[in-house]
This record gives sequence, C-alpha cells and structure tokens, in this order.
Amino acid sequence: MKLLVCCLLAITCVLVHADKSKRLLKLTEVIKELKALNKSVKHNSVMLNTPSMDMEECCSQSALECFRAMVPHLNAKNKILQRKVIKNLNNQLILGSLDSCSQEEREKTVCQGCDSYPKDSQECVQQLESLLQKAISRLA
Ligand SMILES: *[C@@H]1O[C@H](CO)[C@@H](O)[C@H](O)[C@H]1NC(C)=O
Repeated sequence: MKLLVCCLLAITCVLVHADKSKRLLKLTEVIKELKALNKSVKHNSVMLNTPSMDMEECCSQSALECFRAMVPHLNAKNKILQRKVIKNLNNQLILGSLDSCSQEEREKTVCQGCDSYPKDSQECVQQLESLLQKAISRLA
C-alpha cells in the first residue's frame, strides 16, 4: 500500500514536471520568435492597441487575445514568422500558463476592451514579451 502511494506520487510528480517543461519550452520558443519577428518590423507605421502589464491577474488571457489580434497588423517583412507567432499565441500551453484564475473568476472579472488600450507598435511587441516573460517566471 505504502509502495503504491509512493509510486502514484512519483508519477504525479513526473507528469507535473513534464507539463512545466513543455510550457517553458513553448514560452521560450514564442519569445525567441517574437524577438526575431520584431527585427523585421517597421515600427510606428501602424499603431496597435497595447495592453499594459498593470492589468488584473484574471485579465491576462484577455490581454493575450488582444495582442494576438494585433500581431497580424504589425508591419513585418517576415510573414512566415509572423504567422508562426500568431499560431503559437493560440497554443493552449501558452494560454494555460498566464495565470491561475479559474473559468469562473475570469468570467467575473471585467477586463478592459482591446480597443480602449493606448496605441503603439513598438510598445505592443515589448508588452507582449513582458506578458510571456511573466508567465515564465510563474513557472519557476
Ligand atoms: C523591437 O525593435 C526595436 C527596434 O526596431 C527595439 O527598439 C525594441 O527594443 C525591440 N523590442 C523587442 C521586444 O525586442
């Protein structure tokens, strides 16, 4: 019996760890892509809504959705990378790493609308990176 409990604990531990590593890997990958994409972006030719980092905890998914809606509008030369970033921002591993809010808490929280955020293309990339970095630090 004791052995069984011990085994179950060990398995759970490994699974949680594997999940963390997968999230970390995905987050690191998107940040790398985002930085590379940023290099091919002509900034300040388009203005993009930019959620700031002082938002409520349970609004981080809503903020990510706003960022994801903005990325296609970046004036980027590298379209392939741009599509990759958009696709990766849709990844459940990313969405699930942003906060620890429950579905119910999320529904209760009133978040700022994407359209109401200040507009700035360079800042938009910067803040998106900060949001992803924050998710990484949460995993630590
Ligand atoms: C994006 O590129 C601009 C220069 O075009 C740079 O100033 C800025 O720091 C870069 N942002 C990120 C997040 O890499």
